[in-house]
Amino acid sequence: MNQKFKLFLLATCLSSSTFAQTNLRISSPDKNISLTIFTSQANQVFYSFTYRKKNVIQPSSIGFALSKPVAQLSYFTVTSVDSSNVDETWKPVWGEVAQIRNHYKELIVRLKDNSSAGLLLNVIFRVFDDGVGFRYEFPTQPSMHHFVVIDEFTQFAMAGDHKAFWQPGDFDSNEFLYNTTKLSEIDAIAAENSEKGIAVTSPIGPDAVQTPLMLKSADGLYINIHEAALVNYPAMNLMLNKKTLVFTSVLVPDAVGSKAFLETPAKTPWRTIIVSDKATDILASKLILNLNEPSKVKNTDWIKPQKFAGMWWEMHTGKATWQKDGGKHGATTERVKQYIDFAAAHKLDGVLVEGWNVSWEDWFGNWKEPVFDFITPYSDYDIGLLSEYAKNKGVKIIMHHETSGSATNYDHWMDTAYRVMKKYGMNAVKTGYVGKIIPRGEHHDGQWMVNHYQRVAEKTAQYKIMLDAHEPVHPTGLHRTFPNWMANEAARGGEFNNFSTGLPPEHNTIMPFTRLMGGPMDFTPGVFHLQLNQFDPARKQLVRTTLSKQLALYVTMYSPLQMAADIPENYNLHLDAFKFIEDVPVDWDDSKILEAEPGDYITIARKEKGKENWFLGAITDENARTLAVTLDFLTPGATYEATIYRDADKTDWQNNPERYTIEKKVLSNKSKLNIRLGAGGGCAISMIKK
Ligand code: NOJ
Ligand code: CA
Repeated sequence: MNQKFKLFLLATCLSSSTFAQTNLRISSPDKNISLTIFTSQANQVFYSFTYRKKNVIQPSSIGFALSKPVAQLSYFTVTSVDSSNVDETWKPVWGEVAQIRNHYKELIVRLKDNSSAGLLLNVIFRVFDDGVGFRYEFPTQPSMHHFVVIDEFTQFAMAGDHKAFWQPGDFDSNEFLYNTTKLSEIDAIAAENSEKGIAVTSPIGPDAVQTPLMLKSADGLYINIHEAALVNYPAMNLMLNKKTLVFTSVLVPDAVGSKAFLETPAKTPWRTIIVSDKATDILASKLILNLNEPSKVKNTDWIKPQKFAGMWWEMHTGKATWQKDGGKHGATTERVKQYIDFAAAHKLDGVLVEGWNVSWEDWFGNWKEPVFDFITPYSDYDIGLLSEYAKNKGVKIIMHHETSGSATNYDHWMDTAYRVMKKYGMNAVKTGYVGKIIPRGEHHDGQWMVNHYQRVAEKTAQYKIMLDAHEPVHPTGLHRTFPNWMANEAARGGEFNNFSTGLPPEHNTIMPFTRLMGGPMDFTPGVFHLQLNQFDPARKQLVRTTLSKQLALYVTMYSPLQMAADIPENYNLHLDAFKFIEDVPVDWDDSKILEAEPGDYITIARKEKGKENWFLGAITDENARTLAVTLDFLTPGATYEATIYRDADKTDWQNNPERYTIEKKVLSNKSKLNIRLGAGGGCAISMIKK
């Protein structure tokens, strides 16, 4: 439905003489959000909005610097406006819920730049109940065909010195820890220290952060800033002016320092600001998905959410190696058969195999173009035999294509590599972009690579291949448009438990509010052996969670592709706990965010796709706490056979973290849970309808 509604178009009505030209106002369908767009006397265009009368974005200006034609777009005349109201419901191919309501009011503001060039620029605002999205459109116009964006100047003026959950700004990596400080205390250079295990390159400076950026205001608002539908454009970082608390967009440059090469008509990604007075609403928001285009993949029957084992953790922990030389090769025919056996016996759909192809002896940090060819197996890896073996056991091998950053080489090999995959019956690939990007000078998050990731998504779709990209740009909801692009890493994932002091207990309580706002993550949960000296005595550190929390992550970290990260031998010692990983679905009809506070705790219950069963995951940070929830979302009158996997008494991440207690109970929608979560702990519950 797309009906016109009344728009408040008031000329020269503001009391302030500074903002005395055009004044447009539009509210969210539920009226909680009120967005204002106005021009100043100097003819700058500003937007601002409130949520339940509290300021979310203070007056914030927009603008661009272009070359070819050289133009500074800062001062504008509003030439026309249009408005509409959309209320529709759509069904994702897979996801956290079976259907999604897309309900917003839209305002198109058409601008003409006041310089002699007189360039045309439209700004499209969509106001939802849970936030605002806006994008720029450069329409077809006589004096501008091809053009180059030198800078985008979108401001996000904060209404206070909010608490911020942030990562330092960067052009290539989002594998940092989250820092929690006031806005005025953001210091991306100070974030660099060895404890964090990865050097901050801070190409932008001390005051720059990445999106998704999570904020909490002193007056109780939760605010998330990110972008949606990042297509043919570089990713956005944010630079803070600490005196005014105004963020300005910083686009990732290309090899020659430009930001985007475009052709009219051109659209930028949406700039998104999600807001609520409840943290749980932020996690439930579908605003970013709603701002993405519907699926471009017409037949989606072949796209299957799944769990998989990985010939992976044993390389990360030092038991085996990716390379064949050295005598510890992991991906041998015999060893991979064991993984296939384990997957077949325990309801896992696939086995990811890394280190199967030649060239791992010298793959990293060389910045040389062809490293891997993606088709030649090591001599001790019988790809044909294993494909048959897996097929006979009802398991699929998941392909691994590490590009070592050479996207040009991967572009060259894609068709051949995907044909080889199909020949061996494989339909899922994990890609990787470790190291500096080739073409040299390009960045992981620049326009060239954004287009590369999309090329991979489109080509894999042609071959009916599901995609999981590691080291890509931050996700922006494109899994709606390319539902075969199911997961990404794009954050500090489980592998970092191996490095330095690993991931702090709060990490997974922040990620759903930050990285996961853009889409599912291949986080790799499910580590059962939490003392990391199992294969390498030099490693002293612990994974900083309990075993029960590793189970809970399958619910709290949504992904349609979930690895069971540990090795079969470690799982075989705890098959009663592994039962939860066997049972937990990766596709859902419904999700209830029961409790959440960024940095502290998250409790989520989800209903299995097409079934009446519910699964609950609860996690806490470094503080022990009690999970206290009522199960009033269960079907009234129904009873459920529940299995509760919880931290054993006195267990926490530092004390006997692998100890757990499994309890069986019959639960109903009248039941109340009262369960202790140890420090760094968690709880996972399956509720099977009787
Ligand atoms: C980094 C990826 O995140 C990890 O999953 C993979 O095992 C290594 N690169 C090797 O490709
Ligand atoms: Ca905390």
